[in-house]
Amino acid sequence: MPIDVVTIDGPAGAGKSSVARALAQRLGLEFLNTGATYRAVALKALRDKRDLEDEDALVEIARKMKLESIEGRTYLDGEDVTDAVRDPIVSRSVRYPANAPGVRALMVQWQRAVGLVKPIVTEGRDQGTAVFPDARCKFYLDASPEERAKRRVHELQLRGESPNFNDVLAQINERDKLDSERAVGPLCQPADAVRVNSDGKSIDDVVNEMEKIARQKLAIFS
Ligand code: DC
Repeated sequence: MPIDVVTIDGPAGAGKSSVARALAQRLGLEFLNTGATYRAVALKALRDKRDLEDEDALVEIARKMKLESIEGRTYLDGEDVTDAVRDPIVSRSVRYPANAPGVRALMVQWQRAVGLVKPIVTEGRDQGTAVFPDARCKFYLDASPEERAKRRVHELQLRGESPNFNDVLAQINERDKLDSERAVGPLCQPADAVRVNSDGKSIDDVVNEMEKIARQKLAIFS
């Protein structure tokens, strides 16, 4: 019997991390944030003052670094970098490792290895397509660009910033384009995934909906 893997793919800002973390807790599985793996490569490259456009340098970093996911937190060479990888400078730099095929190959290998040793709810862009094509339970979590921009504006306002809605919307559309046009590991809905739209729904509503489906697919009964 293969170990349970629940995949959640979808665009930036659809609520994947919050939903995946909560769903993992309800199902008693571990949460794996795969965006954090690409972010960790970017963080290390920035700290080591490496050229982000040098794919060989990024591959070397990815090969040498020790990456761990423990109880939903990400460790880089033994340091908990879960919060550090969310820094805006890392967010601006992460497209370089995410677009580097050599880095992707290593990250995919690492993500699969995690799924081999423990049951997980994993979220990213390519989890149900390239990384775990045989997963028994796959979701595609979506939200309209306008809804995602609204949430992002609210998040920034809570941090004391005064963002312009149209600028935020343009950034979201640009990120969607980059994510879906990437040659390796592009964002797309797996054919066998259940599509969930989070427009106008709370995290709890979305998690309730997904929990029911996941319990049926994995035959986990409470
Ligand atoms: O979900 P996030 O914002 O933490 O993702 C960071 C970047 O990594 C983003 O550019 C998309 C990319 N990514 C990816 O290419 N494949 C994944 N499985 C997860 C994230």
